[in-house]
Amino acid sequence: MRRVVQFSTGNVGRHSLRAIIGRPDLELVGVHAASPAKIGRDAAELCDWPEPTGVLATDDVDALLALRPDCVVYTALAETRPVEALEELTKILAAGIDVVGTSFVWMAAPRHAQEWIREPLEQACAAGGSSLYINGIDPGYSGDTLVHTALSLATRVSSVTVQEIFDYANYDDYEYTGASMGFGSTEDGELPPLFLPGVVESMWGGPVRSLADGLGITLDEVRQRTERWYTPERIECTMMTVEPGQMAAVRFATEGVVDGEPVITLEHVNRLTPAAAPDWDFPPENHIGVHRVVVDGDPRVEINTHVSHPLFDPTDAGCISTAARALNALDWVCDAPAGLIAVEDVPQPAIIKGLMWGRK
Ligand SMILES: NC(=O)c1ccc[n+]([C@@H]2O[C@H](COP(=O)([O-])OP(=O)(O)OC[C@H]3O[C@@H](n4cnc5c(N)ncnc54)[C@H](OP(=O)(O)O)[C@@H]3O)[C@@H](O)[C@H]2O)c1
Repeated sequence: MRRVVQFSTGNVGRHSLRAIIGRPDLELVGVHAASPAKIGRDAAELCDWPEPTGVLATDDVDALLALRPDCVVYTALAETRPVEALEELTKILAAGIDVVGTSFVWMAAPRHAQEWIREPLEQACAAGGSSLYINGIDPGYSGDTLVHTALSLATRVSSVTVQEIFDYANYDDYEYTGASMGFGSTEDGELPPLFLPGVVESMWGGPVRSLADGLGITLDEVRQRTERWYTPERIECTMMTVEPGQMAAVRFATEGVVDGEPVITLEHVNRLTPAAAPDWDFPPENHIGVHRVVVDGDPRVEINTHVSHPLFDPTDAGCISTAARALNALDWVCDAPAGLIAVEDVPQPAIIKGLMWGRK
């Protein structure tokens, strides 16, 4: 039985929390909340679990560490508060507690993460004899496990293209995803964070370089491209209302280039409702989203991944899968040697252990 603290209960964290409470091989010992409205409430209330757990949410990190959990599942927003989040993570790791998480998406390819983030985390792991593993659906699964699966079906490969094509209309996250991608921005307004030079490359360049390493090729350069689509009509959706002339779709990519040609491409097409960017790629068969890989080679391989759920919409299903990418590695990470763990370090059979909980 692993003793676990769930750190945050947002879009991803509340699904992680539900899974931890439900799993017989995990014991929820603590839960972190930042919002005053959540502090002191039972963990069950924060994730719509039917019975109280007796575990009350707190913002006291030291009190959570004093519980001596085997692992912290860290899903707090980090990209907009990197200094604070780095302090939290290094404190947990240096205290000898393992961490799996979805935050700090740069760490989905830890060997290629920038030094300012990698070094303190490495040092904290060394000091505490602990391990850190970060993953998600994208960045994460679509650029690593999905690609590895497709590549295993080819004898020769000339290019790899990964796409997340997703309608974010129902994604209730304007604060981070919406604002950073620039939904609602105008052509003559301030450049949204994603469009600043190097930002796309900083988020998805690590996975591109990791794939190049795995394939044993040398890239001439890693570059980014970005494109915006402005709506002529008003669009109303859960994320926001977009007025005519404002941005309602974005297309961006990180490309690993050899001899002037992109050979590894990680692309996103994100729109608000199907009315946005009608000429750009859509997911197949009326799906709201797809995580797709296309391998050109012998043979051509295409794998389309659709996540869905009987109760939640596909965006939430993506958040469940993001939580799963961290949580499913928890048991293995707890036994792993100290340090930063990359997806290729985790044996695939290890991540299915314990998943069929709730069945006799
Ligand atoms: N790779 C992927 O596929 C993928 C997909 C989705 C998300 N992510 C990443 O996963 C993380 C969580 O995403 P999300 O959509 O769940 O985010 P979210 O719902 O916007 O926020 C997550 C949590 O951050 C906590 N938080 C905010 N400010 C805080 C502070 N000052 N101190 C401590 N905690 C604070 C909030 O806690 P309270 O609720 O208590 O206020 C919130 O629950 C992000 O880093 C995101 O980039 C990755």
